[in-house]
Amino acid sequence: MKALLISGSRNPQGQTARAADAVLDGFVRAGGEVERLFLPTMRVERCRQCDERGWGTCLKEGHCCIPDDMDTIVNKIKAADVLLFATPVYYGDLSESMRAFTDRLRRCVPRMADKTGIAGKPTVGVCVAGGGGGGAPTCCVSLEKVLRTCELDMVDLIPVRRQNLEAKLAQLGLVGEWLFTGPTSQ
Ligand SMILES: Cc1cc2nc3c(=O)[nH]c(=O)nc-3n(C[C@H](O)[C@H](O)[C@H](O)COP(=O)(O)O)c2cc1C
Repeated sequence: MKALLISGSRNPQGQTARAADAVLDGFVRAGGEVERLFLPTMRVERCRQCDERGWGTCLKEGHCCIPDDMDTIVNKIKAADVLLFATPVYYGDLSESMRAFTDRLRRCVPRMADKTGIAGKPTVGVCVAGGGGGGAPTCCVSLEKVLRTCELDMVDLIPVRRQNLEAKLAQLGLVGEWLFTGPTSQ
């Protein structure tokens, strides 16, 4: 059983990482293995809105024409059993790297000829407001909206703020253990 972390933070020791690691540690305790991706360190362009109507190859082929790390990430999503999306909260919303990736993914998945390995995959989202502490709930709403359009099965969304990060680590660990059981929202 494998969990893939897709992080919108570039800091592997930051607050987003602490929250994500708590979930992943729980997953490993339950017997799983994990892989971590940090989107800001990868090549993920923003959508080019290719033609004058705003569509590109995503519309007909369910595939983005930009030759960057998108395909690599999509293949890793397919190979994982469960997903963890973790983003720092920026302006009460997703980080720019998370926004760029999910904006492109949501165009492609509904139009893929073969959605095996993506549609219905159990997914947890964690949004970490590490500054003043505001905006984690609105960030969760943004993340849920975009990942639902990607047809992922959002089994949990967890707002975290700097002031409660420490207190939530144990709970995040339990979510990781639970994720190992392959939960569904149905
Ligand atoms: C552009 C920007 C906007 C931010 N907006 C918020 C915010 O709305 N609420 C908040 O609590 N923190 C905000 N922060 C602080 C980040 O949430 C905090 O730095 C983040 O938790 C760091 O995550 P990291 O340790 O994974 O890098 C912002 C930071 C940046 C750079």
